[in-house]
Amino acid sequence: MASERSDAQDAAALDRLVCFEDFHRAARDVLSASAYDYYRSGALREWTLAENERAWQRWHFVRRSLVDVSVIDTSATVVGQRVEFPVLIAPTAFHQLATADGEVATARAADALGTIMVNSTLSTVTLEDVAATGAPRWFQLYVFTDRGLTRELVERAVASGFTALVPTVDTPTIGIRYADQRNRFVLPDGMELANFAEALGTTAGGGSGLRAFSQQFDQTLTWRDLEWLSGLCDLPMIPKGVITADDARRAVDVGARGVVVSNHGGRQLDGDPATADALGSVLDAVGAEIDVLVDGGIRSGTDVVKAVAMGASAVLVGRAVLWALAAGGQAGVERMLGLLRDEVADTLRQLGVPRLADLTPDVVRPVRV
Ligand code: LAC
Repeated sequence: MASERSDAQDAAALDRLVCFEDFHRAARDVLSASAYDYYRSGALREWTLAENERAWQRWHFVRRSLVDVSVIDTSATVVGQRVEFPVLIAPTAFHQLATADGEVATARAADALGTIMVNSTLSTVTLEDVAATGAPRWFQLYVFTDRGLTRELVERAVASGFTALVPTVDTPTIGIRYADQRNRFVLPDGMELANFAEALGTTAGGGSGLRAFSQQFDQTLTWRDLEWLSGLCDLPMIPKGVITADDARRAVDVGARGVVVSNHGGRQLDGDPATADALGSVLDAVGAEIDVLVDGGIRSGTDVVKAVAMGASAVLVGRAVLWALAAGGQAGVERMLGLLRDEVADTLRQLGVPRLADLTPDVVRPVRV
């Protein structure tokens, strides 16, 4: 009985969380200081982290009044795969820091809301366990100096039904984040990099930290190697971390079927432009040929609709998921995604564009300063 009561109380507490900031505060209350800092922080002075959020606010809508908006359709197609609304779960590391079931809880929430989870290489449950949820899933890949291990990860992703490969291209090594240095961030006892328990140091550095662990990422990696990668399997390849038109072109040249315009949530090169500012030039370069997705600083349904209006196929959210996962596990992520979906629908209705697929660039304009 006591536990039923507490479930009801948990549900009531979740119901009071209505926006990104609410989930953020709730997460901060329950996470350890070092886990909270790890999720929240950006590289160095965190200019890019802050800029990501600000940049969406530099655009306004051009509304159409008195359009029949009685029926709204938020669905989208991303690299040939349908989602109920254009918000995917960005790959982020170590979900057991937020909830006991880790990435399994996140995947189930994605499935419940009809969207795709992009599972991180650095997850605290195996990719096979994520696959067992049956959730729509893509696999984010770090390429290790041990190419055999890398190939094995790709083969396991294929064998367990992941439907796209998302190599990260903005992380030759993990960025310098002051809070993690202060905290000497490592995975707590009992958590591990589940995808390669034997092959690598499993506790994110065994005391020497995540940055030291990331010395095992292959710093010789070039676009050529992505050709090798896409040759390993038939999955569509969607490089993540593209921020310039030139790199987007290179991605297309090596066979990418999509790109994610991303600066890794401001966690890598501090000084990278905001993704909302970079999106246009990437779309100009490759938008006619492949799907362009974007992440970074997406905090509400209006940000999502602005991104899609500019030409993105969909967005991804990272921190919003982590805060929701900490605040309420699977139910928390379901609530957060449901709120975002409803905000997307409401924005389309207020804007006078009932179908997401009908959004065009002329419904957004840069704010004049
Ligand atoms: C990070 C890596 C693990 O941003 O993606 O911490």
